[in-house]
Amino acid sequence: MRIAVLTGGGDCPGLNGAIKWVTKTALDPLLAKKRSVTFDVIGIRDGWKGLVEVDPGCPESLTRHTMKLDEEIVRTWDRYGGTNLGTSRTNPFNSKNDASQKVMDNIDRLGINVIVAIGGEDTLGVASKLHRLGIKTIGIPKTIDGDLAGTDYSLGFDSAVNIIMEEIDRLRTTAGSHNRIFVVETMGRHAGWLALHGGECSGAYIILIPEHRFDMERVCDLLEERRGREIQYSIIVVSEGATMTVNKEFCKDNKVDEFGHRSLGGIAAYIAKEIEGKTGLETRHVTLSHLQRGGSPSARDRLMARWFGIAAVDMIVNEDFGRMVSYRHGEITSVPMKDVTDHLNLIDVDKYYDTERYNGKRSIL
Ligand code: F6P
Repeated sequence: MRIAVLTGGGDCPGLNGAIKWVTKTALDPLLAKKRSVTFDVIGIRDGWKGLVEVDPGCPESLTRHTMKLDEEIVRTWDRYGGTNLGTSRTNPFNSKNDASQKVMDNIDRLGINVIVAIGGEDTLGVASKLHRLGIKTIGIPKTIDGDLAGTDYSLGFDSAVNIIMEEIDRLRTTAGSHNRIFVVETMGRHAGWLALHGGECSGAYIILIPEHRFDMERVCDLLEERRGREIQYSIIVVSEGATMTVNKEFCKDNKVDEFGHRSLGGIAAYIAKEIEGKTGLETRHVTLSHLQRGGSPSARDRLMARWFGIAAVDMIVNEDFGRMVSYRHGEITSVPMKDVTDHLNLIDVDKYYDTERYNGKRSIL
């Protein structure tokens, strides 16, 4: 059986580990003896784009868009961030330029029996649609935003939260020395998990998330309440997708990707300016941006990548196609992909967010 692995959407630490463990588990000689099926593994470069653009009859195109994977090639991959297969936001089901038939033909011509797609709602949405069209697919959850439904963990989230925490630790010394307010913008297009967890573990004074519209006046009041107390500076963490009671969207430009998403950014700069204007408190802003997706994977991401990769191969052996590996209540399991790609895992505000303090809730049970 030929397994093809691909990574789609935004890169993050943990992807290479998942590719490594799919490959190692599929090619494991001890396991091979116990199975009624043997595998070979290829990587598809640049996500779904590779399957759209490859010409299986042309050797140069095969080298450009695919890569043979074996245990020796992937041996050290789990230590490194990014994705050695490359990624893209290509959507073969894009209504303006539907390439789904081409992808199906290329899967056939490449002799691929099953695809392991590592990605978030967009990448797995494509895998789910292909499965409905008769292609065998398995999903591995990845998104630093933490908004993928059907799983309690997605690759990349823990590394990103650690980066946010480390950067805020750094900001504290300079914020304290100058008695300044710092507004830190995190990623998180629809969900505020990165801002909430990053803000909570670094002790931010205010955390603003997309799931609860915030009022600029209230932000300023909260800062005023602190003025003159022994704490001379404050850290505000805001998710790039946070919205105000006054409707205003913060986008980098007018471009929309193939899945219909806009490029968000700029809310921290806006908030910093508003705070200075309304309170006179000296305020700076920092947009963490793609730093949150860089560097090597945290211990948790390495471990989860390993478990997810192994589980994906178990699912292939068991013929559990059309499903995504999932981490639920402390255990590895799987869920149907069609059930996780039609909605997002957003923060339950009543449970986790204090709408008065604009911070994590101080009541847990
Ligand atoms: O994939 C999720 C994400 O990291 C979002 O948090 C962010 O809005 C987006 O990707 C940025 O995408 P790009 O890398 O295309 O700028």
